[in-house]
Amino acid sequence: MQSLLAPISAGTLSLPNRVIMAPLTRCRAEPQHVPGDLMVEYYRQRAGAGLIIAEATMVQAGNSAFWSEPGIHSAAQVAGWHRVTDAVHAEGGRILLQLWHGGRACHPLMNAGAQPVAPSPIAIDGEVHTPTGKAAYVVPRELTDAELPGIVAAFVVAARNARAAGFDGVEVHGANGYLLDEFLRDGSNQRSGPWGGPIAQRARLLLEVVDAVIAEWGAGRVAVRISPLNSFNSMQDSDPVALTRYVARALSERGIAFLDFMRGDILGIQKGDVLSPARECFEGVLVGNVGYTAEEADAAIAAGLIDAVALGRPFIANPDLVARLRLGASLARSDMASWYTPGPVGYIDYPALAAAPG
Ligand SMILES: Cc1cc2nc3c(=O)[nH]c(=O)nc-3n(C[C@H](O)[C@H](O)[C@H](O)COP(=O)(O)O)c2cc1C
Repeated sequence: MQSLLAPISAGTLSLPNRVIMAPLTRCRAEPQHVPGDLMVEYYRQRAGAGLIIAEATMVQAGNSAFWSEPGIHSAAQVAGWHRVTDAVHAEGGRILLQLWHGGRACHPLMNAGAQPVAPSPIAIDGEVHTPTGKAAYVVPRELTDAELPGIVAAFVVAARNARAAGFDGVEVHGANGYLLDEFLRDGSNQRSGPWGGPIAQRARLLLEVVDAVIAEWGAGRVAVRISPLNSFNSMQDSDPVALTRYVARALSERGIAFLDFMRGDILGIQKGDVLSPARECFEGVLVGNVGYTAEEADAAIAAGLIDAVALGRPFIANPDLVARLRLGASLARSDMASWYTPGPVGYIDYPALAAAPG
């Protein structure tokens, strides 16, 4: 694990190892989407990661897609997150916040009846979990061009709030079928005008958000996540490789801290190689994600395919993942049934390895 455990600089962040905790929505926020004691303890336990990317966090009120996910738009949320960042820093860790707008994945039942918004009025197939059971996703309202500066402004306020909450930087969530990704891909973006059509125009909203967030933080503290192949949330694109190339180049020019790149489809439906074009077009630190084992990640870093890895599911059941990798210890598996359930079970009760005797 020499490559994986070697330090790396990403923008102005210095990471002691290349094992990054991927953003993981766990639905344990308190009412009003405020991080509380459970979240403080959960992130504190995982501070041994080279870097934590904290879960998708609402930049604006009224965009809940999971009903107990956190936000970063109120003073109480900022204060709650500050307790989290203090705990991680006290353990010697580093933590970014993932800035997120849920777009068409939000549901009226979680947002006081409000219709979700999206680039085009196309619904996600299937059902979402709501406080009153499963419900079909609804057809979103198409955002007008005039509303888009307001979306950018919400990310700016959230980025500023993340700084007030003591984060070490932010990651712009451009993946997994949420608002910015919905603009990127032509399965969900069928608008005409300056934010639809050719790739450069579909990428415009993401890049406007990234530029505005860079203005708040400096490029060296801003990461971006994209997932050109992921079909989760009914997402698809007619040319994921060309999209990857365009976005990777544009982000490379901006000198961001790193590109958090989802190389595959978490549902295993859409296939292809988008990692190679990302590597070719992005000159900064490339963080690979989706389905890596530590062994594969170590070899991929040694071979120069990626610079670091983001691990998601392994961090759920192994709070001390890096210590385990260092020791060559076996890894625990998480119980999917408690990924999104309220309370401490399946959240803060996965033990660290027992301290060695003597
Ligand atoms: C429970 C759970 C919650 C997730 N929440 C987020 C999230 O908030 N933001 C995000 O970008 N990805 C999210 N993901 C995707 C993960 O960050 C990661 O991309 C995925 O688990 C694949 O990586 P892995 O194979 O190492 O688990 C989530 C995945 C899981 C399993």
